Amino acid sequence: MAPVKIAVMGAGLIGKRHAVHVRAEPSAVLSAMIDPAPTGQAFAEEIGVAWYPAFDALPASQRPDGVIVATPNQLHVANGLELVSAGIPMLVEKPLADSVDSARKLVQAAEAANVPLLVGHHRRHNPMIRKAREAIETGRLGRILTLNGQFWLVKPDDYFDVDWRRQEGAGPVLINLIHDIDLFRYLCGEITGVQALSSNAVRGHPAEETAVAILRFASGALGTVSASDTVVSPWSWELTTGENPAYPRQDQSCYQIGGTHGSLTIPALELWSHTDKRGWWEPLKRERIPFVPEDPLQAQIRHFCAVIRGEEEPLVSGREGLATLAVIEAVKLAARSGAPVEIAPEPALAKASA
Ligand SMILES: NC(=O)c1ccc[n+]([C@@H]2O[C@H](COP(=O)([O-])OP(=O)(O)OC[C@H]3O[C@@H](n4cnc5c(N)ncnc54)[C@H](O)[C@@H]3O)[C@@H](O)[C@H]2O)c1
Repeated sequence: MAPVKIAVMGAGLIGKRHAVHVRAEPSAVLSAMIDPAPTGQAFAEEIGVAWYPAFDALPASQRPDGVIVATPNQLHVANGLELVSAGIPMLVEKPLADSVDSARKLVQAAEAANVPLLVGHHRRHNPMIRKAREAIETGRLGRILTLNGQFWLVKPDDYFDVDWRRQEGAGPVLINLIHDIDLFRYLCGEITGVQALSSNAVRGHPAEETAVAILRFASGALGTVSASDTVVSPWSWELTTGENPAYPRQDQSCYQIGGTHGSLTIPALELWSHTDKRGWWEPLKRERIPFVPEDPLQAQIRHFCAVIRGEEEPLVSGREGLATLAVIEAVKLAARSGAPVEIAPEPALAKASA
């Protein structure tokens, strides 16, 4: 089988990692880096791959089979629409767009043109998350009633030397919590309403530093999640999963999911349940669900290749990316207004699940 040709648009922090992972995937070749910046050109030269300043500069002979869009958030929709017009399957980094309204335009265009769109919520590709979902779906926790999630870490002071990182929209809600919310939806189903508060008590930048949200799921389950980039702590996905070796890994968990018959910690995958009947005097059993680790960014590339070949449907479709972004917008609105926010299902989503 001929390898699929993948081009990466945006040679920044994550685009460079995608390039490495595409090269490590036996069924793919990295055909080009697309980035107007001199740093993008330098990176392409360094790794010995063709460079183009823009997608429309690619000659027809260089047409890729798929493109990874790893540009700044506000460009995702324009970049994605170009690919829809060209009929090229895409993997668009999270967040799908900088607003639900603009994300919807891309999703609708891709659907109308029947062009596959995969959203880069790569944590869903983590084998540990697949095991957690399996435990929930097979009823090992009983009926899910509540979850608790934490994204608590401290970003270094010089992270904020870059102007956009101090501005509204660059705080942990859109940048980080979106990953956690996407997993909560994947594990526990649709979120239909939120309440939230946020604060910028220490740095005082327009971007929030800390946010707390209460979530209501369609199933009736309730969740709480808190996010702060100003707290020294081991309790975040980044520091507990070992997914990115740049973070010092801690043997802790950042999520707990509770049901009528058991509770699960993530990423430790410790399942707590009663051996016999339920009750607070009864002995509790603690078992660790085994899984074989794999870098989820690598697994995501393998899946993208299968999507390009038409062998698999996107695990995180455009609609999924849109629904996760809608929860994030609701958290921001709830924190701003102080009032609860209901999240209406996307009309097309409601139709699809009917
Ligand atoms: N999945 C994850 O865990 C993860 C991690 C980091 C970033 N991201 C997402 O990836 C995207 C990029 O983030 P980043 O941190 O790599 O940003 P970055 O600023 O490091 O890189 C963006 C790159 O895009 C290039 N670019 C700008 N305009 C372009 C255009 N029109 N065409 C092609 N390239 C263009 C820039 O020159 C730059 O090299 C964002 O949407 C971000 O949210 C996801």
